[in-house]
Amino acid sequence: MSAQSHWDDVYGRKAPDAVSWFRPHLDRSLAFIEGAGLARDAAIVDVGGGASTLVDDLLDRGYTNVTVLDLSASAIAAAQQRLGARAAAVRWVVGDITQATMAPASVAFWHDRAVFHFLRDDDARRRYVDLARRALEPGGHIVVATFGPQGPERCSGLEVMRYDAEGIHDEFGAAFTKIASDEERHATPWGAEQRFVYCYCRVGA
Ligand SMILES: C[S@@+](CC[C@H](N)C(=O)[O-])C[C@H]1O[C@@H](n2cnc3c(N)ncnc32)[C@H](O)[C@@H]1O
Repeated sequence: MSAQSHWDDVYGRKAPDAVSWFRPHLDRSLAFIEGAGLARDAAIVDVGGGASTLVDDLLDRGYTNVTVLDLSASAIAAAQQRLGARAAAVRWVVGDITQATMAPASVAFWHDRAVFHFLRDDDARRRYVDLARRALEPGGHIVVATFGPQGPERCSGLEVMRYDAEGIHDEFGAAFTKIASDEERHATPWGAEQRFVYCYCRVGA
């Protein structure tokens, strides 16, 4: 099964609020984005945003230039359905972030919660990091959240990489300056604990 079919199947079998990673609001992500002090028309990309409510909360806060990219058309359709007419204010991209193209220096804030840790192949991670480095504007912001060292070893039937914040920063390299990190004890909809680590960096800052 291709990765795209895998994720479409996951979203086909479970409601958006029943998947393990669901949170009603991505509070930590929002805090990092709000803390960046961006203009309301700054380009924000939610990489592997799936059906998450981050996009709803960004629109609620007045951000007008939001892109959601995800491998799963089903996830994007679920988010669009939830947003209704407001979905037209968002740029939606169905695609693989490790194969994607973006204009150079076109992104002010790159957000990824629970996507990078699925990249177990060195070349895939390198393509991801190269794209982020090129697509982010000078001084641009990036938050990558993965399972932490004590987090689960698998998600949705797939093995994941686990990182501490330094480990995430190491993957991105010297072009990225680590600004802050955070941890999250995420409770799944069925009450299990999953430990996440957030790493916030800026490009060339
Ligand atoms: C665990 S979910 C996290 C969803 C969302 N970021 C959140 O925190 O609610 C992982 C998401 O990444 C997407 N995904 C996995 N691999 C991807 C890739 N290579 N490119 C783009 N999206 C990908 C999946 O379709 C899924 O929506």
